[in-house]
Amino acid sequence: MSHSVQTSRAAVSGKAKALSGRARVPGDKSISHRALIMGGLAVGETTVTGLLMGEDVLRTAAVMAALGAKVEETKGTDGSPLWKVWGRGIGGLSEPADVLDMGNSGTGARLIAGLVSAYPFTSFMTGDASLRRRPMDRIIKPLSQSGARFTTRAGGRLPMAVTGTPLAMPLTYDSPIASAQVKSAVLLAGLHAGGVTTVTEPVPSRDHTERMFRHFGVDVRVENGPLGGETWSGRYKVQVQGQPELTGRPINVPADPSSAAFLVVSALLVPGSHLILPNIGINPLRTGLFDTLQEMGGDIAYTNRRLEAGEPVADLEVKYSKLKGIPVPAERAPSMIDEYPILAVAAACADGVTTMLGLEELKVKESDRLTAMAVGLEACGVTAEAAADSLTVKGGRTAGGVTIAVNLDHRIAMSFLVLGMVSDKPIAVDDATAIATSFPDFMGLMNGLGADMRTVATKDVA
Ligand code: S3P
Repeated sequence: MSHSVQTSRAAVSGKAKALSGRARVPGDKSISHRALIMGGLAVGETTVTGLLMGEDVLRTAAVMAALGAKVEETKGTDGSPLWKVWGRGIGGLSEPADVLDMGNSGTGARLIAGLVSAYPFTSFMTGDASLRRRPMDRIIKPLSQSGARFTTRAGGRLPMAVTGTPLAMPLTYDSPIASAQVKSAVLLAGLHAGGVTTVTEPVPSRDHTERMFRHFGVDVRVENGPLGGETWSGRYKVQVQGQPELTGRPINVPADPSSAAFLVVSALLVPGSHLILPNIGINPLRTGLFDTLQEMGGDIAYTNRRLEAGEPVADLEVKYSKLKGIPVPAERAPSMIDEYPILAVAAACADGVTTMLGLEELKVKESDRLTAMAVGLEACGVTAEAAADSLTVKGGRTAGGVTIAVNLDHRIAMSFLVLGMVSDKPIAVDDATAIATSFPDFMGLMNGLGADMRTVATKDVA
């Protein structure tokens, strides 16, 4: 694998022309991580098409190889990338010879920590400055039940040493937060134990791990979530039978709704826009933003609905729309947790006030996104106010003409570049390199549709 890491670089976004055309959004980040991990645990060949070739996922590919899986990037018959993974079977991974560098990825770090906690060796894990600020206690607490030991810096931060248990035990954990990273870390450890591992959450977080487990034939039982039946309410419960015999299989990764979000909001905001986005994942635990934008008056239509590797997928058609501000309830937060930065941009351009509730988790993402959005929007001339767990944005004109500090956060960078498309003066971000973690050709794709985004030397920014 030879993918280069870019050097620090600013970018600026000015007035866009109407966006039009069909755009291929890169693969889903959450599903891509899980495809590589499960491929590494299955015996035989797993083939993956549509894998996100962003830095976060490439780190997971390298880490699975360091743990003994064979991971290869090849080309399919149509010339598009095809990834092949030959796994080692449950219990078959081996001690990594070097530190596992998870880069910017909280998902990679937490899922892999869960995985290696079930092996009788010590792994060392680190990441970039953003990841080294993020809390690991949330996974250490449930995973320690099995006898695995974790040594971290103060505050439960990376770098971290994980000494796994010689005898993986079934775990039972009632999580205080709806977090797919916590749930998945416990389920991946539990997959190695003889017995049933149970996780409950206050409401269901994204269920890609459960769906991917089922795709590989694991016995997964669900109560109070979309996989458990048509209607659901109350605490979500998932149970997994450990020590299955996994065999490799094909996986088509759908396009990432969290990346599509930037194109969807751009098309809604730039007058005259009309975009078609094929093959977007529409797992109901991920579509909170699209539901919210429709409530705000956004013209978003789903066609050609289908299932890919157990995941619901559709083509999206989006047209320019006049948006109005609305209250966004706290219960919706888990289904759009990564989308609040771009929703705040939509809210800044809507008629009236948008209040977003239940946002405490935003403070521990790649950056403190609650503060970043309030401060950044104010700098752009928008009235925005952050409280302990909410964000209120008053729509109106956006002056722009500023440079926003993104603090290694890809979604903050893309959000302000989108706002620059409709602000009076251009908006710059001080470092666009983090965008490569989830959406490597974001600016190229946007420019091909009608945007005016370019990288600049730091002295030239707005
Ligand atoms: C993810 C879960 C979410 C999300 C992250 C991806 C996953 O984090 O913010 O970008 O793939 O499991 P939490 O589980 O911490 O909410």
